[in-house]
Amino acid sequence: MATIDLPLLPLGRGIDLDSERGVECPGDLPPASDPSLVARAGAAKAALGDRVFVLGHHYQRDEVIQFADVTGDSFKLARDAAARPEAEFIVFCGVHFMAESADILTSPAQRVVLPDLAAGCSMADMAKLSQVEAAWEALAAAGIQDQVVPVTYMNSSADIKAFCGRNGGVVCTSSNAQTVLEWAFEQGSKVLFLPDQHLGRNTAVLKLGIPLEKCVVWSPRLPDGGLTAEQLADATMILWQGHCSVHGRFSPDTIDELRATVPGIQVLVHPECQHEVVLKADLIGSTEFIIKTIEEAPAGSAWAIGTELNLVQRLAKAHPDKRIVFLDRNVCYCSTMNRIDLPHFVWALESLVAGVVPNVIEVDPETERDAKIALQRMLDLPGKTHRD
Ligand code: 13P
Ligand code: SF4
Repeated sequence: MATIDLPLLPLGRGIDLDSERGVECPGDLPPASDPSLVARAGAAKAALGDRVFVLGHHYQRDEVIQFADVTGDSFKLARDAAARPEAEFIVFCGVHFMAESADILTSPAQRVVLPDLAAGCSMADMAKLSQVEAAWEALAAAGIQDQVVPVTYMNSSADIKAFCGRNGGVVCTSSNAQTVLEWAFEQGSKVLFLPDQHLGRNTAVLKLGIPLEKCVVWSPRLPDGGLTAEQLADATMILWQGHCSVHGRFSPDTIDELRATVPGIQVLVHPECQHEVVLKADLIGSTEFIIKTIEEAPAGSAWAIGTELNLVQRLAKAHPDKRIVFLDRNVCYCSTMNRIDLPHFVWALESLVAGVVPNVIEVDPETERDAKIALQRMLDLPGKTHRD
């Protein structure tokens, strides 16, 4: 039987600060306890027919993901966003930066709807455009800017993607970071990697063989990033000091404990985990890679998975012939992904049926133009992912 070795802790601990930002979903939401919500979502979706296309990230709740036309990791969803040009409305069940990317990659006539505007990403919030522009100027003052290629993780705001587009840079996701970094090092000798230091470090060291000491961390709150001119001149990877609070919880100690207690257990983690965790794991990859690995695993195999809990629970339910263990003693949902629940989803779809387009995500034309350059550079890379 599939198991998730979790104590039952109350939810709602450690809510990210960014869940407080943005506009609360306006309008009369159906109550969460309403037993008719599933039927109402189905009826609204059927009424909209081909006018609506629902995209769902793998971290979404089961109650929402069941209505997705397409599910995927960030790369797949960015690619699929443009797959239904006939759909007037793209309802994005994911977080704000993903909906922004969908808006950039779809036609101007299509409207992208995020069912709850408070569904942000605390990592994306860790790099503000003004901070990145100041860092870029500091790199110029240090005399190295012309050697640096800016690479931003998909988990960043549209204006950071636009900054990369304007400055010869590119976007990457967790499934293609190696391919993208290889491309970046053909363009320059150094990379400024935004905003996730862990994905940048893990990919540089483990996939490209860049020595750990060539990776330095740029602290946006310190003058000159807290780095000397010599450190910058010597660095190959300049890693922005950002991280994911959800993946940051996994620890190498838990891996040691699990290996000692579950013989033969394999550890499968997302590359947003800390370097010390990734070093101890057997396999590392995006959410799509994690799903494919479990699907292809033999019956009876045991896995400890280090990624968001909705996905791990779904995998455990779908594979009762395998032992699936969550790689943390505590509950570890992404609180902002969880913002998209069935009441918000029903509210968004029923609003569309009623002729009101709620919570539209619209990137301004100039930002869109530049961000699209960086996104398109990624989408045009051959091979695209090391998983395909
Ligand atoms: P994936 O691209 O692997 O789906 O990851 C997105 C994300 O936000 C992970 O925290
Ligand atoms: Fe952002 Fe982390 Fe949530 Fe992914 S899991 S959306 S990186 S806060």
